[in-house]
Amino acid sequence: MNLAVLTSGGDSPGMNAAVRAVVRKGLAEKTRVFGFYEGYRGLSENQYGVLDHESVSEIIDRGGTILRTARYQRFLERGTREKAAANLKALDVTALIVIGGNGSMAGAEKLQELGVGTIGVPASIDNDVYGTDFSIGFDTALNTVVDMLSKLRDTASAHERIFIVEVMGRKCGAIALYSGMAGGADHVCLPETPATSELQLSQMSEIVNRRYRVGKTHTIIIIAEGSGSAEEVGRAIHERTKRDVRVSVLGHVQRGGSPSAFDRILASTLASRAVELAIAGESGVMVGLGGGRVTTVPLVDTYTKTVRTDPELAKLASVLS
Ligand code: F6P
Repeated sequence: MNLAVLTSGGDSPGMNAAVRAVVRKGLAEKTRVFGFYEGYRGLSENQYGVLDHESVSEIIDRGGTILRTARYQRFLERGTREKAAANLKALDVTALIVIGGNGSMAGAEKLQELGVGTIGVPASIDNDVYGTDFSIGFDTALNTVVDMLSKLRDTASAHERIFIVEVMGRKCGAIALYSGMAGGADHVCLPETPATSELQLSQMSEIVNRRYRVGKTHTIIIIAEGSGSAEEVGRAIHERTKRDVRVSVLGHVQRGGSPSAFDRILASTLASRAVELAIAGESGVMVGLGGGRVTTVPLVDTYTKTVRTDPELAKLASVLS
């Protein structure tokens, strides 16, 4: 039996661990594994290599992805997908394992509609893929942000400043919320609540002023990328409080780095399960983690259903701040 694997969309730490697990589990089950480069672009243009045991050596601790990745808009065109399906057919591939976020899962589902067996493995630092409690890379990104927050707190406290910290998450506030809780932020703005709204700005200014009144001369506020511009918030908070404000946009540093132990194990477990399912003849699903167990969900659900920020957790973050 032949299997294929690719990584697609924004990279996330742990993608390499997932590729390694697909290859080694596949080889252990006597399959051949083709690796396609640069996600759906390589699949459409037939750029691939045969992956052996050695080709995935010494990558479990590396961020990025040895298969490279792409956000490939042309895959939205049916003709491009048909080329991809034909390439897999020519190699007699039984199932393609797609490691990526919800956009990549949508691509996998569209291939499935063309008769190609596909299985998804969720990997995104945003933790915004429906059907899994955690996506590969989220834990590492979260730890990166929490580490940055500690560093920012040092300088914020030394200079008695307000820091507005923008973290990734266009539609999902998981990084903002979890890092806010773990990093002891004083306020978190999620994509659901525009950071530049009057309500949020007056709330943030009030938090800053209240803290000064009780002798706390620095404040850390986290803005999820999708909630609004940290620069704009910074200017507004300065105007309202007349305090010293600095803005820090953490950006792509959140996507890099060696994966955490949790992400390595998650990637290894989910990717191995994907191989087992492929061998059992299943497809059209994404593997995920649900309540501590490996689960499956139809691919179509992974991008049509939305992951909402847990309101209870958001409330708790606010109580604890
Ligand atoms: O999907 C992950 C993510 O890191 C988002 O949080 C962010 O908005 C986006 O990717 C950035 O994408 P790009 O690297 O293509 O600019």
